[in-house]
Amino acid sequence: MAHEEVVDRYSALARAALDGEKVVDCSPQEFDRGGFGPAGYDETAGLPDAAVRVSLGCGDPVAVAELHTGETVLDLGSGGGIDVLLSARRVGSYGKVYGLDASADMIELARSNAREAGAANVEFLHGAIEAIPLSDHSVDVVISNCVINLSSDKAATVAESFRVLRPGGRLGISDVVTSQILDPARRVAAERRIGCVAGSLTVAEYRDLLAATGFVNATVTLTADHGDHVHSAIIHAVKPACPPGLEIRPMREADAAQVLAIYQAGLDTGQASFETAAPSWDGFTTGRLPHLRYVATDTHTGEVVGWVAASPVSSRPVYAGVVEHSVYVHPGCQAHGIGRALLTAFVAASQDAGVWTIQTGIFPENTPSLALHQALGFRIVGTRERVGCHHGTWRDVLLIERRVTGA
Ligand SMILES: C[S@@+](CC[C@H](N)C(=O)[O-])C[C@H]1O[C@@H](n2cnc3c(N)ncnc32)[C@H](O)[C@@H]1O
Repeated sequence: MAHEEVVDRYSALARAALDGEKVVDCSPQEFDRGGFGPAGYDETAGLPDAAVRVSLGCGDPVAVAELHTGETVLDLGSGGGIDVLLSARRVGSYGKVYGLDASADMIELARSNAREAGAANVEFLHGAIEAIPLSDHSVDVVISNCVINLSSDKAATVAESFRVLRPGGRLGISDVVTSQILDPARRVAAERRIGCVAGSLTVAEYRDLLAATGFVNATVTLTADHGDHVHSAIIHAVKPACPPGLEIRPMREADAAQVLAIYQAGLDTGQASFETAAPSWDGFTTGRLPHLRYVATDTHTGEVVGWVAASPVSSRPVYAGVVEHSVYVHPGCQAHGIGRALLTAFVAASQDAGVWTIQTGIFPENTPSLALHQALGFRIVGTRERVGCHHGTWRDVLLIERRVTGA
């Protein structure tokens, strides 16, 4: 369904609600089964009747986002404002909740509901979730209820959510997903019945999109089965935390020169590797897993200050899930927690990707790196004594690894 059709459809529903009608956008049978609309909530007491009546969601995202006093929240596709008003209660008067919707009629309805509720800490913005009208790093939590499946550019929506979240910020959304790829005829039938499944992602596609955008600790939990492999789901993910003024995001080709310069600066210290010269970008990317490469950037200058990347240790199936990583921080930026933030994000992303062992070698003299790795759960497996001659000196290498608990 094109964006304009989606907006027209929900504008008509908003006008009906403004006229006092009961509003439903799935089949009456689905509504009566209780999977959609206000049935997903257990805390609507005291909300304006019109806000509850026009609830068009497929769950209760506020419940999963674990909001705290003073936080700033953004609701993507806020409709009549039910989740904005519930969030506003949770974050209190020191917090703030934005609702964003592409339908001007929905915005009018939501503002009217907010006035009736006496909510002073809310603001409704007219705009698209694919181009969020808020600045970078301005919200703590992004919530959304049954909207992302309607987006014609889900990659942009997820990227925009990542952009506006502060490092460490959370995504807690309810959406419609499919547990496997539906054939087109079944998809159309399901769309007609659910009303909300126009272009839903499979669970695997959702997880891949979140990871490719830079989110970690992603989970997709199915909460209601609507038949034909269509489910409501709660999706949770985190933007990697890092020290103030920095951001961790996936490495891009445009980062090449800075990544390689940091690599070379690390090699020049003589404590990072037996290598003495950083490879070309082609040499760097060959063999390194594209989905497990991250950079830390200075949010003011955009400059890369550190990176982490990994390679599979072997192509043999038995070693699937075992990777060897490298983490480098610009020598001028060390002791600011950048390595810890990069490694923490990398460990989380690796687990999301099914990696069960992360390993590497460290010179025993590189005590800061060893301490960092040990603090994040790596253990020394053994020492390879005098394994290589480096700048004329035979050196030992400590082999370290981190296993996923239970592996
Ligand atoms: C299924 S309703 C859900 C409304 C609300 N979240 C709730 O739970 O009641 C979808 C809402 O998302 C809005 N919407 C759909 N696509 C959008 C987009 N690309 N950008 C902004 N809003 C959008 C619609 O106007 C509508 O209000």
